[in-house]
Amino acid sequence: MAHTLTYPQRLAGLPDTDRRLLKGMAAVALLALFIGVLAGVATALVRGGLVNVGMADGYRFLTVHGVAIFFYWLFTTQTALLLGLAACEHGKGLAWRPLAWTAFGLMLLGLFLSMAGSVSGTPLLYNGSPELVRDNPRDLLLFNAGYSLLGLGLMLLPASAIVTLLHPRWQGQQDKLSAVGFALFAWAGFLVVTGFAALYTFVPGILWALGVGPFPLSHGTRWHIVFHNMHYLPLMATVILWYVLVQALTGVKSVFGERFSKIVFSMYLVFVPPTSLYHMFLEPDLPQVVQVAGSMLSLFVSVPTLTAFLIIVASLEVHARSQGGRGLFGWIGLLPWRHPAMSAIGAAVLSMAFGLVFAFVLIQGQLAPLLSDTFFVPGYFHFFTVGTVSMTLLAALSVVLPAIGGRDLWKPRVLRWMPWLALAGLLVFGAAGITAGYMGVPRRVMDISYQQQAPALWHSLMLAVAVGGSVMATALLVFAGGIAASLLPRKQPSTSVAGMVVSWGGTAVKAGTQAWVGPVSILVIVAAMYVFSAVGFELMQSLPLSASGGGGH
Ligand code: HEM
Repeated sequence: MAHTLTYPQRLAGLPDTDRRLLKGMAAVALLALFIGVLAGVATALVRGGLVNVGMADGYRFLTVHGVAIFFYWLFTTQTALLLGLAACEHGKGLAWRPLAWTAFGLMLLGLFLSMAGSVSGTPLLYNGSPELVRDNPRDLLLFNAGYSLLGLGLMLLPASAIVTLLHPRWQGQQDKLSAVGFALFAWAGFLVVTGFAALYTFVPGILWALGVGPFPLSHGTRWHIVFHNMHYLPLMATVILWYVLVQALTGVKSVFGERFSKIVFSMYLVFVPPTSLYHMFLEPDLPQVVQVAGSMLSLFVSVPTLTAFLIIVASLEVHARSQGGRGLFGWIGLLPWRHPAMSAIGAAVLSMAFGLVFAFVLIQGQLAPLLSDTFFVPGYFHFFTVGTVSMTLLAALSVVLPAIGGRDLWKPRVLRWMPWLALAGLLVFGAAGITAGYMGVPRRVMDISYQQQAPALWHSLMLAVAVGGSVMATALLVFAGGIAASLLPRKQPSTSVAGMVVSWGGTAVKAGTQAWVGPVSILVIVAAMYVFSAVGFELMQSLPLSASGGGGH
């Protein structure tokens, strides 16, 4: 029954208490985003030489940035959306509500403790290496306690989503999960594993800080495990949200059928674990054969994301062509671009293409040791963290928050330009950052003047990073702020976005309609990857550099 209604209708029909939980979680997530973006701009301004602060303050900005935005913004939003969509599957609301509220409470307390730990004591950066506080164990306490509570929340909260999804089956009201239900189930399972990995990584530090456990010698290895999960999970979430949002904005479902979508979603569980090998590329004694195997396996990690991308683009393309779309790209103009969520998805897809090209460069065994400790890394991964994942999460919130009883979206005509402005800033930030990386500018180093010995170009590139970073931060703050306004109680109706979507779901697709844009995009990505790898090798050979091992991302 629920499946005959649109997503906004299903969200609007959820019980009050569930809508309150979703609003509370969205408010906390957006707060973490605001804190994180402000600290990110501060870091960019310090690195660009536009703000002069002591080194410790620079690292504090970077710590607050990484902790608030990577751990709390990404994961509180994901869990909120997971719960909301799971509750929508059958429209009857959440199962095990008290557990969901308790888990949210733990995550909120975690944010508070992590922030307190980040602004006091030694700035630990977001990986919280205990090595930095060997003589000061107490400095690790609040920081690790925050992450551990988040980890516990991530283990408990998805349980409510899982039971919500399975309940109708247990009651004999459903024989199989829908494609979205299945994807949510896999996403929830992956979150539980990640929560456990976070506990496994950060609890030993608490015990050491309290004087009841040994020094956590294996923190580095454990961090790689939790980190590997934590940066692929948001990508899986992105793809699931594209799938749902395309349905909400255009009415289009996959033309390949539910079963194929389920296979693609389950591919994440198969492909993500073995790809963790590339985090070992910086180990000095790594045998060549492991390097080659690592590079090959790393390529696989993009398989589910690219396949899901192909399904979504092809489904949209054949429907848009049936609506009269012409030319290789002409059909794209028929998409509902007036809705801010659509522009956010458009910007997210383009950012993902850029991110993938440079990720392929970085996972090559021979380039990784040369680039891994340079600004190449933050230069390319912001295409994923800002452009792809954060844009998609915001797109989803822009649909969910007005639907669960908040205000209509604030000024959609202004908001719809923000993803493009953010993408423009990101292109400057990314291009300057990646070039800086090729030129050897180190990451996580606040002052790169090296007694005025550093090349002048380094400073110009970091200045461009600061300018591009400020533009993308401003656009992101306006976009998120406009969406956050929907958390306020409803007032007089303003510009509703309901009329900005299209409804192509009921239209039959003309037989023989072809879809080319998906495969063409992938060809372009692969060609660009070859070009930038070749540029990397050429540049590296011309630089007077040698590489040695160091920490991963
Ligand atoms: C929108 C404005 C943003 C700006 C201006 C910004 C800027 C920066 C800068 C300058 C760095 C420091 C790089 C270094 O010195 O090594 C950095 C690191 C980082 N950023 Fe951002 N960022 C932004 C958004 C985001 C978002 C949305 C995310 C994640 C969702 C994110 C995740 C990270 C992470 C994980 C690091 C690495 C931290 C570390 O190495 O300890 N950033 N960012």
